[in-house]
Amino acid sequence: MIIQEYAKRRQRLVETLNPNGLAVLFAAPSRRRNRDVHFPYRPDSDFFYLTGFPEPAAVAVLVPGHPEGEYVLFCRERDPKLELWEGPQAGLDGACNHYGADRALPIAALDAVMPELIAGRECLYSLMGNEPDCDLRVIKWAGVAEAEGPRTELRSLSTPLHEQRLFKSRHEIRKLRRAARIAAAAHKRAMRACRPGMNEYQLEAELLHEFIQRGARAPAYPPIIGGGANGCILHYILNNAELQAGELVLIDAGAEYDYYASDITRTFPVSGRFSAEQAAVYEVVLASQRAAIAAVRPGNPWNQPHETAVRVLTEGLIELGILSGDPVRRIAEKAFQPYYMHRTGHWVGMDVHDVGDYRVGDVWRVLEPGMYLTVEPGLYLRPDTPGLHKRWWNIGIRIEDDVLVTREGPEVLSADAPKSLQEIEQWMAG
Ligand code: GLY
Ligand code: MN
Ligand code: MN
Repeated sequence: MIIQEYAKRRQRLVETLNPNGLAVLFAAPSRRRNRDVHFPYRPDSDFFYLTGFPEPAAVAVLVPGHPEGEYVLFCRERDPKLELWEGPQAGLDGACNHYGADRALPIAALDAVMPELIAGRECLYSLMGNEPDCDLRVIKWAGVAEAEGPRTELRSLSTPLHEQRLFKSRHEIRKLRRAARIAAAAHKRAMRACRPGMNEYQLEAELLHEFIQRGARAPAYPPIIGGGANGCILHYILNNAELQAGELVLIDAGAEYDYYASDITRTFPVSGRFSAEQAAVYEVVLASQRAAIAAVRPGNPWNQPHETAVRVLTEGLIELGILSGDPVRRIAEKAFQPYYMHRTGHWVGMDVHDVGDYRVGDVWRVLEPGMYLTVEPGLYLRPDTPGLHKRWWNIGIRIEDDVLVTREGPEVLSADAPKSLQEIEQWMAG
């Protein structure tokens, strides 16, 4: 079943390539953390999307119409000594029998075999710019092949592959749904555990506990847990300050489940009750997020949720007295920028900031069913913002959900995490 999903993906990609070309993808290297300790291995998303092959030291080659099969996988030969330390490896037999390769060759033969596969082909597609070593090898192989025959043009594989990855299959949506559910449960756990005097990293511990208990072995990105002023630092990951009564805490944390990401932000009061100012700002961000989610519909341009969020945020800032003047003019002047300085979302998938173009030429692309994105407006009211009254200081709020574009409209896969003021206060009191 799963092996067929990967075969389908390769076949769809091959259909978009020059039939007299070939494509090459490298597995990510194993990365060293310190001295002889390595990070747990995480395959490159592009490579894994097409192969499902979980080992490093591998290269996948797609050769349309090749008489010996279109899919060649170079990988490590089984090494009993290494297997003793690290566990079973696929080896060449496994590459064919379990991962669907038509031909498996030892990775040690890569430099010798590639020029032969390239020779006579019009173009060679690869993902340039990831690993300088890989780029150099691609250029060298093409050079060797060319010395013996006609020139092979180097082309980018990212354009067709990333366009394909932008549209999530049913299989992928199942994984994404699970990743979002796990992260929502983790946010609920952290909300309920939160007490004044705890450290931010203790909320991180609650999140990670829930992720791992539910089979998401790693976060999709380093969790952000910012109490008070730290909630106004967009990518705050120190997570080592004490949480104070009366302050808000912003948690931006997503689980990675079986290579698929979620990306959720919730902001709630450390002691369980919003102050009047916090509640007023929260209502503005929530209204902007709800309006932006409603704009996630097939046919709308990518930027529509952002424009919607900016409009509701600006109107809200004027109503709160933080900004003044005519909303239309203030939006044109970007008066919101001291308080809202990021965009309202991004694609999500195997990578938290997933691949796929946001524009076609110089126009925003149109949303279509199967696309998956975040909607994450916020307001960050910092003491150093000129003219900002003290009562708003250090209110940092972001609300982020993961939304699937469907024919019927937006489907929020992260909806289990409490979001309205009342839901949050009730859940925290429970
Ligand atoms: N967690 C990163 C982001 O929200 O884009
Ligand atoms: Mn995000
Ligand atoms: Mn996020």
